[in-house]
Amino acid sequence: MLRKTLLGLVAATTLGAGTVAAAADSKTVEVMHWWTSGGEAKALAVLKDGLKQRGYTWKDAPIAGGGGEAARTVLKARVSSGNPPDAIQMLGFTIPEYAEQDYLANLDSLAGKEGWDKQVPAPIQRFSKYQGHWVAVPVDIHRTNWIWANKKIFDDLHLAPPQSFDQLVADAAAIRKAGYIPLAHGGQPWQEATIFDSAVMSAGGPKFYTQALVNLDAAALGSKTMEKAFDQMRALRGMVDPNFPGRDWNLATAMVIDGRAAMQIMGDWAKGEFVNAGKKANVDYLCFQYPGTQGDFIFNTDQFATFKKGDPSLPAEHAFASTVMDKSNQAKFNQIKGSIPARLDVPADGFDECGQKSMADLRSALKNGTMVGSFAHGHAMPDGPKNAVYDVVTHFFNSNESSADAVKQLVEAVNNAK
Ligand code: GAL
Repeated sequence: MLRKTLLGLVAATTLGAGTVAAAADSKTVEVMHWWTSGGEAKALAVLKDGLKQRGYTWKDAPIAGGGGEAARTVLKARVSSGNPPDAIQMLGFTIPEYAEQDYLANLDSLAGKEGWDKQVPAPIQRFSKYQGHWVAVPVDIHRTNWIWANKKIFDDLHLAPPQSFDQLVADAAAIRKAGYIPLAHGGQPWQEATIFDSAVMSAGGPKFYTQALVNLDAAALGSKTMEKAFDQMRALRGMVDPNFPGRDWNLATAMVIDGRAAMQIMGDWAKGEFVNAGKKANVDYLCFQYPGTQGDFIFNTDQFATFKKGDPSLPAEHAFASTVMDKSNQAKFNQIKGSIPARLDVPADGFDECGQKSMADLRSALKNGTMVGSFAHGHAMPDGPKNAVYDVVTHFFNSNESSADAVKQLVEAVNNAK
């Protein structure tokens, strides 16, 4: 055991110094990701094809599990045994964590050649770069404060997208009375955290969200406004069906697609499932913002980092990164994935109404400085406090705890994890 740990450390240190053995086959790029749902897999095929066109083979290393927790665990194990994949999907604060230990390849020369600086919005670059150097490439911009609704149920019950949280509560009661499940939810901590993104934004707006979840300000975390966010979580808990625990997010989306449930609160990867099922925006389903967050943009951007190995001129790494950053790949990929491109120069035509709305809202959020990172998906705070907040949110959602007590727990958990 001790021997194994020591070996792991030696390998990791060597790797950190950038002197690892070359990849087994320099024409193959092993890519680790967690895109295993129908919509996700279809979107990923765009990148696979793109890499092939550049003369490289894509070796797929999928680790199932929405939100990527399982993939992050596997990555840690592979890195500490000196055997990281060539490229890996990464979110938010995970990128600087690996960059700080000198694991990630520096992509500056390619970035300069392809002009990424001008095309990628600053709040995204903040995670793509470490100490001013490009170490990851963003393929998409997801938004978490969406509600996906079954249009037929809404039409039959004469409902319109709710403009306030109270209206959502009233609509949910009418939906329940008509025999449908108001809210399709998967009881996994990351899915509860995803809903919490919206509840906090709805309760307090972008300034409050930033104070509480980005700056980790104790007064904001312990405030009455935060209690209101938990009150919303309690009301949402009352809208789910009894079988929600453990359900995968895409199975919850399927409940809305099939008309068993009326709504799902989820990032726009859910749209990828509607698209994959042949459903059309505003014909079969509705997309609208969680009430009280209209115009707000809570972002989650999927990036890929490449690990330092082999040839210092980085031919495979550049082929891979160039595939991800390719303008037409980003158009195709995001139309399938449900997100919008991470590059600002991709034209809006070809995107449906939900995508075009996201593009327009992104641009105004960028202008107003109101684009904020998703807590649930690792773009608000580092992993330590994030996991602590996850625990508080999930415990609250799955118990009868009061909002006042949850807020106390929140302050304490963040304080211990900081
Ligand atoms: C997120 C990821 C999204 C989406 C989702 C569900 O972490 O950023 O792209 O795929 O998980 O798997």
